[in-house]
Amino acid sequence: MKAEQNELLVRTGPGTPMGELFRRYWNPILLSRELPAPDCPPVRVKCLGERMVAFRDTQGRLGLVDEFCAHRGVSLYFGRNEESGIRCAYHGWKYDVNGQCMEVPSEPVESGFCKKIKLKSYPVVERGDVIWVYMGPAELQPPLPEWEFATVPPEQSYMSKRLQECNWLQAMEGGIDSSHVSFLHSGQLNHDPLFKGAKGNQYNLGDKKPVFEVVESEGGLYIGARRNAEDGNYYWRITPWVMPCFTMVPPRGDHPMHGHFWVPMDDETCMAWSFDYHPVRALTEYERQAMIDGHGVHVKVDRDFRPLQNKDNDYLIDRDSQKSGRNYSGVEGIGMQDASLQESMGPIQDRTRENLVSTDNGIIMARHRLMKAAKELAAKGTLPPGRDPVQQKVRSVAVVLPSGTPFKEGAGEALKAKAGVAQTSV
Ligand code: FES
Ligand SMILES: [Fe+2]
Repeated sequence: MKAEQNELLVRTGPGTPMGELFRRYWNPILLSRELPAPDCPPVRVKCLGERMVAFRDTQGRLGLVDEFCAHRGVSLYFGRNEESGIRCAYHGWKYDVNGQCMEVPSEPVESGFCKKIKLKSYPVVERGDVIWVYMGPAELQPPLPEWEFATVPPEQSYMSKRLQECNWLQAMEGGIDSSHVSFLHSGQLNHDPLFKGAKGNQYNLGDKKPVFEVVESEGGLYIGARRNAEDGNYYWRITPWVMPCFTMVPPRGDHPMHGHFWVPMDDETCMAWSFDYHPVRALTEYERQAMIDGHGVHVKVDRDFRPLQNKDNDYLIDRDSQKSGRNYSGVEGIGMQDASLQESMGPIQDRTRENLVSTDNGIIMARHRLMKAAKELAAKGTLPPGRDPVQQKVRSVAVVLPSGTPFKEGAGEALKAKAGVAQTSV
């Protein structure tokens, strides 16, 4: 990859081609539970290189506005969320959920001064325990997000998020790289409460040379990884990727299905969002507790969503566990196994120095689609794929198919999210 291609893909601040691309979608920005009640404390957020503050006002309306007061730049995070607006703690200027200044206490009301003051603000919407933001031009706002995890009843779904200290793309590329599972996560397949026991695990562990086939979908890609099963059949793990940063892990047995969004906070940090849901039943108490405890794709974090295992403590790597094979890398937990290695690449991976192989085909095609879409948006204003709710109604699939059957044909309707229909899983 050329240096300028890498730059194109990793920079997402205002005015950059990838930054503009991300600004054509609804992106997850907060968990609903971070703003649990009217007039609760405000929350600082960073997304696509922009710093903002979010609050829920007295009427329960959500606001997401520029973090800094228009007067002399104080952070509104320290402000008072009261009486239908957020008030700067320095001189009392007050703003509503749209960023409109409601009051400048030092000025006469008749002057109308406050009407001329408005903070930048973005529309937000709440769906599936997530607050989503749209940061693009108002006239190009897409329909509301329709991902299946966000539309099933709340008892069937769980979402968490964690800070990842590297660029979004190297994190996202881990989500579509099914070949590392047979190595990095091999220990977890046998003992993680949200993974163990599935028949598919044996195929996963038994064949460390998966063959990748990638086909385009309307919203992105379907990435099929084929491993040997019995009698000349193939075990297929099919990962959908929907532009720009949604990935879904193929299911295992009747375990809930899971996946991620990798949303840039700035060019050197991203928020890894991890969801789990079951299409047709409530999560059990045991499953939900395992998710809260940081099992499966979830991770234990501090109050700032930074994982307790992090680069400052070498992710609590345990060399005995590495040696015994309980954990292939010695780091505990699937999410931190991924994050530790992706952060170890440095804040922004230098893709001019890598040597790709055939199992990287999904990654290669995803990069091409992203570059193409970013360039076409910049040059012609062409809106990118993945904005249409129909394109978001995807599912991952794990299935055994006869050799010779193309995976997309073999999986068929199972690749589509259908209310009331269980996942296709081995
Ligand atoms: S800096 Fe916010 S009111 Fe003065
Ligand atoms: Fe992984």
